[in-house]
Amino acid sequence: MTSPKATDDKWWQEAVIYQIYPRSFFDSNGDGEGDLPGIMQKLQYVADLGVDAIWLSPFFTSPNKDGGYDVANPRDVDPRFGNLADAKLMINKAHDLGLKVLVDIVPNHFSAEHEWFKAALVAAPGSKERARFHFHEGKDDRTPPNNWISLFGGPAWTQVADGQYYLHLFDSSQPDLNWENPEVDEDFKETISFWVKMGVDGFRIDVAHGLVKENIRSDHHDPQGLSDALRIDVDMEIEKRESLLASVPFFDRAGVHEIYRSWRKHFDSFDKPIMAVAEAWVHPPVNGVAYVRPDELHQIFNFDLLIAPFEAKTLYRLINSTLEMFKDIDAYPTWAISNHDSPRVSSRLGAEEARALALFLFGLPGSSYIYNGQELGLPDAELADSDRQDPSFIRTNGETKGRDGARVPMPWSGQETPFGFTSGKPWLPLPATWLDLTVESQINDEQGSLFLYRSALAQRAKLFRGARDFTWDTSRIEEGILGFSRGGIQVYLNSGNKSVALPASELILASSGSHRILNSEFELKQGRAIWFMQ
Ligand code: GLC
Ligand code: CA
Repeated sequence: MTSPKATDDKWWQEAVIYQIYPRSFFDSNGDGEGDLPGIMQKLQYVADLGVDAIWLSPFFTSPNKDGGYDVANPRDVDPRFGNLADAKLMINKAHDLGLKVLVDIVPNHFSAEHEWFKAALVAAPGSKERARFHFHEGKDDRTPPNNWISLFGGPAWTQVADGQYYLHLFDSSQPDLNWENPEVDEDFKETISFWVKMGVDGFRIDVAHGLVKENIRSDHHDPQGLSDALRIDVDMEIEKRESLLASVPFFDRAGVHEIYRSWRKHFDSFDKPIMAVAEAWVHPPVNGVAYVRPDELHQIFNFDLLIAPFEAKTLYRLINSTLEMFKDIDAYPTWAISNHDSPRVSSRLGAEEARALALFLFGLPGSSYIYNGQELGLPDAELADSDRQDPSFIRTNGETKGRDGARVPMPWSGQETPFGFTSGKPWLPLPATWLDLTVESQINDEQGSLFLYRSALAQRAKLFRGARDFTWDTSRIEEGILGFSRGGIQVYLNSGNKSVALPASELILASSGSHRILNSEFELKQGRAIWFMQ
C-alpha cells in the first residue's frame, strides 16, 4: 500500500465493488431467470448504493452445469441472459452511471460443450485437439492416471470412448485446459481483448491459482484429506489442513505467475487502465501477495473473512496479518464476507453481526466487495433437495448441500414471493419470509440493513479514501472490543457478550444499530459496530 491517493488510473485500489449474480438479479422477460436487460433496469439501484464498480458472474454461452462457470463460448452471451447488444447497452449504462464494469474470465476450464472439447472428443489420442486439454492414458484400462478428487466430489478424471481420461478439477462437464499449450493463452488473450473492446474495465479471474498442474501422473498421498482440506464446509484441525494444503499439486504452482506476467502486458496494451482480481485461495495466505506484484495482477481476493467467526481476536489476527502483508507492496487488500460460493454472512454470523462486520470493514484500507443481496441482509434460503442445482450437490449424492442457498434471486418489491424478481416462476424459489427484506420494504427504513449500507458508502470515500494513517485499538480485545482509527475517524466493533461504554463522541457518522448517548459516554451494544469522530 505504498502508492498515494487512488487516482482514476487506479480506481480499484479503494473501490467498493458489487458482485452481481446475473441469473438471480432481475428477470426482464418473465422466464424466471435474471438477464442482462434486467441488470440494466436495476443499475440505478446499484449506483444509488454508492458503489464504484460492478462485477458480473458469467453470462457467457454455457450449458449452465455450474452456474455459467462452464463456458462454451467466452465471446458470446448465453441466450438466457440476452445477447451481445444487451451486454454492450448494459456496460454503457453502467458507465453513464459512473460504475466501472468487471466481468468474469474462467481460464482453468471450458465447458464440455466448447467447440475445442467437442473436437477433442472426436480426435485421436495424441492429436493437437486433445493437446489443449489434459488427456492421458489411465494406469490401466479402468484406473485413471492419478487419484485426484474433483473439488465437487468424485474422481477428477473421466474416461472417453477410446479409453483415455481427461482431467477436470471441477465437474466432469468442465475439462481443464492445458496451459502448457500456447494456443490456450492466445485464445484467452483474444477473449480479454474482445471484452475490453466491448467496454469492460477489468476481469475477475476464476480459479486463478489453478492453471498449472504438477505431477499430473502421480498419486497424492492423501487425496480424500486434501479434498476435505480444500472444502470450507469441512471442519479440520488447522495444522492438519495447513499441511495438506501445502501439498496440493494443482494449485498455486510457480508457473501461474508467468501466465499473469504475460496477461499484465496484455492488460497494459489497451488505451485505458484494465484491472484484474484473482480468485486464488493460497496457503499460506502470504503467497497471495505474489499475485499482485507490480508486473502481475491488481488485486487478489482475501477469503479469510468468509470463514472467520465474529470474534474480535480472530478478526484482529486475520485483518492485521493481511494489512501487514500489504504494507510494503504497491497493492491494496480486498475484503469480502459473502459471495456466490459460500453461505451468506447473515446466516453464518447472524443478521446484526453481519451488518456490524460490513461497517467495520468498510473503514479499512483497500477494496470491499459486496455480494448482491448482502446489502439487504439476506440469509441463505432453505431449499428442497429437488430444487438444488449445484454440481457439488449432485456429485456428492447430496452429502454436500452446495451453494444454491446463497444464489436465490433478489427480492425487490411487493407482498408476495417472488417479490418482483420475475413475473414468471423463479429458477429457485424465494422464501415468503423475505417480505421484510425486499428493497421496497427497506429503502426508507432507517434501522434496516440497506439504509446502513447506503449511508456508510455515501460517506466512505470522503472519510477514508487515501487516508494514510491507521492505528489499532486492541486495549479491550479481551472484552470483544476491536477498534481502529483512520483518517481521524474511530471505528469500533463489539463482538463481546455485553454492551460497553465508549467515550462520548461529537459526531456519530454511522452505526449498525441504535445506540444510546449518555453524558460523557455512549453505549456500543454487542453485535454492533460504529464510526465516530472525536
Ligand atoms: C470458482 C467459482 C465457482 C465455480 C468454480 C469452478 O470457484 O467462483 O462458482 O464453481 O470456480 O469454475
Ligand atoms: Ca430472463
